This record gives sequence, C-alpha cells and structure tokens, in this order.
Amino acid sequence: MQSAAAIDRPATLAVKPTGAPLGADIEGLDMNRPLGEAEANTLKEAWARHQVLRFRGQQGLTLDGLAQFSRSFGALDKRPTPSKPMSREYEQLPPEIAVISNVKVEGKALGALGDGEAAWHTDMTYNEIPPKGACLYAVEVPPAGGNTQFANMYAAYETLPEALKQRIQGLRCIHDASRNSAGELRIGYEEVTDPRQTRGAVQPLVSTHAVTGRQCLLLGRRRNAYIVGLPVQESEALLDTLWAHATRPELTWTQVWQVGDVVMWDNTCTMHRRDAFDPSTRRLMYRTQIAGIVAL
Ligand code: OGA
Ligand code: MN
Repeated sequence: MQSAAAIDRPATLAVKPTGAPLGADIEGLDMNRPLGEAEANTLKEAWARHQVLRFRGQQGLTLDGLAQFSRSFGALDKRPTPSKPMSREYEQLPPEIAVISNVKVEGKALGALGDGEAAWHTDMTYNEIPPKGACLYAVEVPPAGGNTQFANMYAAYETLPEALKQRIQGLRCIHDASRNSAGELRIGYEEVTDPRQTRGAVQPLVSTHAVTGRQCLLLGRRRNAYIVGLPVQESEALLDTLWAHATRPELTWTQVWQVGDVVMWDNTCTMHRRDAFDPSTRRLMYRTQIAGIVAL
C-alpha cells in the first residue's frame, strides 16, 4: 500500500543517460502539464550534466505546451527571418515556434533546412550572445536518414593535447553569419572569399559555461571561420585540426528520431549536425529557442 506522503509527492522523473559522452532520456513526464518546481530543478540539473535531454512519447504535445515547457528554461527567442518565402501556415504560427521541415505546401516551404545534410554547427554563434538552447519536437519522421548527431564540447576541449590547449588559450575566432545550417546564403549577405572579411561575432575558442563553470571548445561553424590575427593559412590549419578533433565519433551521440520525441540541447556546450534524407519522404519538426543571457 502507498503511504499518503508518497501519494502527495510529485511524480518522480527518471534520468537515464544514453551511455554516450552526452545525452539522457527523461522518463515520466507529460510535457503538456506545467512543470512543478521540483521537476523543473531536476530537469535543469540533468540538462547541465548531460547537455542534451530527450523526452520520448510526447505525441499529444501541443505547440502551446511546447512553448510553455521551453519557457521553464528561459525567455524564448522569436523565430528568425527565413532565407526564402515560406508557406502561409508557417507565417501564421506563434512567433516563438519555428518549423524544421522539407515539406512543401503549394510549392512553398513549410519549414527550414530542407532535406540535405546540415553540417556540424552551434546555433547562431555569429551573434554576440548566442541562444542558450533549443527544443525540437518530431511530428513526422522519415523512414531512414535525418538523424541528428550531437558532440560534447567539454570533452572536445578536455581531450585536446596539452600543447594545443595552451596554443588556443586566449585566441578568438570570427563566426560567419552569411549562411544558414543548410548552407543557404542569408538575405543581405555576400559570398565570403577571404575569411578575414567574414561578418559575424568574434568569440573565444575556449569558453566558460555560464552554469557549470566548465571550459569547452567553441567552434560555431567551419565555413569562413577565421582565427583573429593569424595568417590565413595558419588559421585554416589550426581550425582543421580542432574540427577533426571535436567531431570524432567517440565524442558524439546520435539521435535517431521517433514521432513524439522532444530533444532539448544546451547550445553553449554542444554542436549538432543532421544527416540528409530521401527528399520524397517527409520530416516535420517544431522548434523553440531559449534566449542566451551571456556572451560565451
Ligand atoms: C536546428 C538544427 C537539425 C535537425 O534546429 O538548429 O540544426 O536535425 N536542426 O533538424
Ligand atoms: Mn542547428
């Protein structure tokens, strides 16, 4: 028999690490229900520790529910201006909801990023204060491909050879704002031909996490990146070395999507990429973005 105290206690959440260098499943949560304070604290702790949280089986989640859940972790950003005209459905969504999809309605995209590969990146580090994180909610999933990989940028820093750690201490890098994660040129930008001319925020190569205080590697995206003050050749070579190190499979975890999955990543200590998938199949995800509060 359950005691009265047990009945009064909020449902306990189970945090189940993936076994990879990052990521954990959270079980026992109906995301349509507002979070209790204890639950929110458990999730914040788990997020800081595991960097990416996955909530399976959220098929009934509404867009309001997704926004409300996301707001428990900070103010939400409005969705960015898309790089091409979007469907009416997209324009009519609440401003805090973005769509990641290859689906087209009357010839116009219902969401961003299409069906190609999205190269490794951290979201919007070309802004001075990049977002804290994002939630992606899978409503339609292709039968194959379209998986999302995450890389642990604490581990990327910690496993660098000592000499390399010292070499990059204090170095800063320009993060290119000209192209989105699908490689499309943003409105108002021109092709970069010399990385020293790249437009975007300058970020330290090593950043300190606002919550955990741990150091991590901050790379953003590879294309058009430039380490300030180095000859271009040297900057290219050093960036190539760091990128090869940070994206080694043993530092990553792959999310193989199921309908009803919600994945929430800490954008300030991870990178992610997406596999391409068959354009004749459908992938539909709703997305919220939690605003950053500090420079990295
Ligand atoms: C994003 C992103 C990848 C994916 O939403 O920021 O990069 O798997 N998505 O859709
Ligand atoms: Mn992204």
